[in-house]
Amino acid sequence: MTMTSPLSSLFEVAPVVPVVVLHDVQAAVPLARALVAGGLPVIEVTLRTDVALRSIERIAAEVPEALVGAGTVVTTDQVKQCVDAGAHFLVSPGCTDRLLAAMDGCGLPYLPGVATVSEMLTVLDRGRTEMKFFPAEAAGGMAYLKAVAGPLPQARFCPTGGITVATAGDYLALPNVGCVGGSWLTPADAVAAGNWARIVRLAREAASLRAPIR
Ligand code: 3PG
Repeated sequence: MTMTSPLSSLFEVAPVVPVVVLHDVQAAVPLARALVAGGLPVIEVTLRTDVALRSIERIAAEVPEALVGAGTVVTTDQVKQCVDAGAHFLVSPGCTDRLLAAMDGCGLPYLPGVATVSEMLTVLDRGRTEMKFFPAEAAGGMAYLKAVAGPLPQARFCPTGGITVATAGDYLALPNVGCVGGSWLTPADAVAAGNWARIVRLAREAASLRAPIR
């Protein structure tokens, strides 16, 4: 099944993409509503739990203001499962030729994970300029992104991995950063306790880091 998405660029909507790990499908909809209420409508639900696909389905069906994507996509089978679940976009932590081909072919916007210049070139070779820089802090952080801006000026990144509210603004100020991702918006204890007010506050703080492009 091939899908079309309302989204042409994942970098056009919000400065921060919350990276979410859900253990209870019942939390999916209220969590998504809290993030949207705080101004972060682009949500990445990682495929790291057995409720992830059902959570994506629920958010896609019940929270129309959200753009819900699947994260931690590592196999071609998962690409199909995510399309079937109604995901609006895909994010992978790395890229292989098979995975890139599957994501390219599925019709959804996607952020392939890259950490080296060669991986960046592989993605650019496919005519794609948007990528996830992962794991951002461990792979070289802001200094690395500044260094690749010279040879690869067309590449645009969503750095993710080790970014906090304290560092997100500096990443967002880099000209080759379109948005940043992070799990700090959805602390596990707040999600488990259903503390949606705390998540609205965290989202609001992150949403104000940079005005959306549109
Ligand atoms: C990811 O999957 O992108 C990361 O686990 C998120 O990284 P963080 O937890 O350091 O924000």
